Amino acid sequence: MASLPAVHVTTDALSSLDVDVLIVPVFRGGIEGPGADTALSALGLADVPRDAGFRGKPGEVLHLAAPGQPWGQVTLVGLGRLDQLSDEMVRRAAGSAIRSVASHAATVATTLPLANVSLATIRAAAEGALLGAYRYDDARSEPRPLTITDISLVIPSSLAADADEAVRRAGVHAAAQCVARELVTAPPNLMGPVEVAERALDLAGDDVDVEVWDTDRLIEEGCGGLLAVARGSARPPRLVHLRYSPADPIASIALVGKGITFDTGGISLKRPSSIMESMKGDMGGAAAVLAVFTALAQLQVPIAVHGMLCLAENMPGADAQRPSDVITIRGGTTVEVLNTDAEGRLVLADGLALAEESEPDAIVDVATLTGAAMRAIGNRASAVFANDDDLLRQLLGAADDAGEAMWHLPMWEDLRDNLDSDVADLENLGRGDEAGATMGALFLREFVGRTPWAHLDIAGPFWQDEDRYHQPKHGTGVPVRTLLRWLEGAGR
Ligand code: BES
Ligand code: MN
Ligand code: ZN
Repeated sequence: MASLPAVHVTTDALSSLDVDVLIVPVFRGGIEGPGADTALSALGLADVPRDAGFRGKPGEVLHLAAPGQPWGQVTLVGLGRLDQLSDEMVRRAAGSAIRSVASHAATVATTLPLANVSLATIRAAAEGALLGAYRYDDARSEPRPLTITDISLVIPSSLAADADEAVRRAGVHAAAQCVARELVTAPPNLMGPVEVAERALDLAGDDVDVEVWDTDRLIEEGCGGLLAVARGSARPPRLVHLRYSPADPIASIALVGKGITFDTGGISLKRPSSIMESMKGDMGGAAAVLAVFTALAQLQVPIAVHGMLCLAENMPGADAQRPSDVITIRGGTTVEVLNTDAEGRLVLADGLALAEESEPDAIVDVATLTGAAMRAIGNRASAVFANDDDLLRQLLGAADDAGEAMWHLPMWEDLRDNLDSDVADLENLGRGDEAGATMGALFLREFVGRTPWAHLDIAGPFWQDEDRYHQPKHGTGVPVRTLLRWLEGAGR
């Protein structure tokens, strides 16, 4: 994977920073307003081009020459309005600024907005800067690596004592998120179930155990959901069980990830085919769960964590499952498969049943499950469903801290009947209703017992067509930082 630059903090005077680029965040109002002029005259740069049109809107950048200064260039970046300043706006500005210089500068320093600088702000700036300095670069014959190597955050000396640890944690979160981005963006011929399982095996070590089940083992263990979905593909399925076991854990949780390495829909083929290319990222849930395991030990997470990656490719091959087949999930529940494109819930059913068997205190599944979630709340937010208010509150809080939008959707009891099948215990679709994301959640709930459980539908935010702030286009790595914030917060 492409390596990320190093981030450090400094309390040195700006005039002593010998860097290629100095980044200066500016509030809305821009050069005409209260932001840039003050910032720039403090830097000895009076000569601002008034016609540049820079307004300080979020993510807007303006590159200025800096003659006679130690920095090769000054880059102004918009922060948006002062009265709307938040850590997320700082994260976004840092990401936009770094993204705009990352392929021509090596060393960069950035100041922070004068108002409201806290350790959380420093952490957000470091996260945004690192996340903006990522680009998928593994599939070119001639790599085009970014040039950026060092990022200095100029901080007030009052915060210096704890800033290193805040920046270290930011680095762990950002690196983990980039692992998920890379898995999502990697082409599906190079990243099938076997390859994802190999990436998980790479994590095995002192703190993490990894067990991989192949087809024969899945048959023995009765994982009929994974086996049914994989039948149409020449590539075999895999179930990966990761275990992180700190000394004296205060609790245990399980994370379950949908890992469809490509989703054609199967015999219920997706139409039009142009919507198919982003389906290489239909393993975004499994990618996020795998990525979390790269970070747990470094964050000294005090709880035991199980991870289940449900990996299969959904293809319409000669042996593919047919609409109206009945399959048996781990644990014995039978499902009539009315639409082979509702495959995520079939592999997750096995994964949730297995997660229950390790008797965790909570289960969270992560899945690119339904286009309906995206149509309901847009493609920038994850939908969250939960059977437990406390778990729901914790996850919404963690998402807020991470700056990853998340919205609670209902599991209407009234709609449960729609999952009743004419021939089996359940059908996989939930006929006759428009609440597609809710039907997916209600189906998954059937495989969870009394354990507090939440389902994150990331069908919207797992992918992005355009560069945006700290998110370069394509795989986003959502919701890795939310999950890490949640787990990090558990012991406090
Ligand atoms: N992977 C898709 C959902 C999806 C769609 C994710 C768009 C990201 C972007 C999932 O397997 C699927 O096909 N869902 C169907 C469910 C339906 C057949 C009940 C859908 O959303 O249309
Ligand atoms: Mn599908
Ligand atoms: Zn899918």
